Amino acid sequence: METIPNRIAFTLTSKNVVIITLFIGLGLLLLSNLHSSHLPSFSATSGTSIYTNLQALRTPNKYLFSTNNIPHNPHTIGHVSNVGMLGKQRFPQAIIIGVKKSGTRALIDMLKSHPQIISPKGEIHFFDRDETFRKGVSWYIGRMPYSTIDQLTIEKSPSYFITPDVPKRIFHLSPNVKLLLIVRNPIERAISDYSQLFNPGRKSRNLTFDDFVIHNHHVDNTVSVIKVSTYDIHMARWLRYFPLQQIHVVNGDALILDPAPEIIKVQDFLGVSSFFQKNMFYFNYTKGFYCWNKVTENGYTHQNCLGSGKGRPHPDISKTTKELLKQYFASHNERFFELVEKSFDWNN
Ligand code: A3P
Repeated sequence: METIPNRIAFTLTSKNVVIITLFIGLGLLLLSNLHSSHLPSFSATSGTSIYTNLQALRTPNKYLFSTNNIPHNPHTIGHVSNVGMLGKQRFPQAIIIGVKKSGTRALIDMLKSHPQIISPKGEIHFFDRDETFRKGVSWYIGRMPYSTIDQLTIEKSPSYFITPDVPKRIFHLSPNVKLLLIVRNPIERAISDYSQLFNPGRKSRNLTFDDFVIHNHHVDNTVSVIKVSTYDIHMARWLRYFPLQQIHVVNGDALILDPAPEIIKVQDFLGVSSFFQKNMFYFNYTKGFYCWNKVTENGYTHQNCLGSGKGRPHPDISKTTKELLKQYFASHNERFFELVEKSFDWNN
């Protein structure tokens, strides 16, 4: 009678060992393919390949967070690279899209005091510059700081708001990203823009603000400082791609006068833990603006004010220019208020 050990000995002939090894190898290959088909490729290096590579990241429902590739963090939109000891570099979960000279730096710097909020240094300009966009999403993620799963990465590039291609580009890469827009009285914003443009360190101020924006008793709407302040025109483009609930509008005038309430609203919108308190902010009479206490990684508290490029003195403008600007912006402002379902004290 044939014994069991004999049968085992029969199956382990050299021919069968080769067949078994082949089967195991094939199985392993199949498993690894199945696994990698769930992971998006980040090898996009040219503009044309970006969307192809990111098709895998698109969600069927644009108002829901993507569940592709984001098992842990509900804020993570799914683009992650370079796993490291300090965490991962991630596609931002929120972007400050503008508006230039409305307090974008104050907003990001104040938000960065929150232990759950992290942001790259400077402005990346990924979505608004063709040459940068062509570098691909892996390049963009590579500019982000390492973050833990509890942290939120926020990028700010104020020219996103006014650049026509940007809403579509962001939507294609991350349809659920939270957007922050800070706005300020459009006339004050235009004066601030002018003050930066003709800052003595950059250009000699050979034109007064009045001469710069008024020609033949009309507002020159071809001048960039005016065009940027027509918020309704830019906002309409964003709303073609993103629902209003995904865009939080920050009142930049209120942020100057009393930062805490505005920052707390942003904190709620972002869904991070409750951290900001009124007593963290204090008015600095030398600077003429609010500064705030910031706790460093080592646990030290230091006082944080923005640099001299923020909070510049503004030139006086004539009553006539002010009146012409008010009339010019009135209808733009009204339309903007309708679009964002919120009004601001700008038409008085
Ligand atoms: P001015 O320099 O014209 O006063 P941005 O960072 O988008 O360029 O905006 C700059 C504006 O931020 C400044 O314009 C200033 O009014 C405003 N701002 C808001 N909060 C501020 C703060 N705490 N310190 C300095 N500037 C602040």
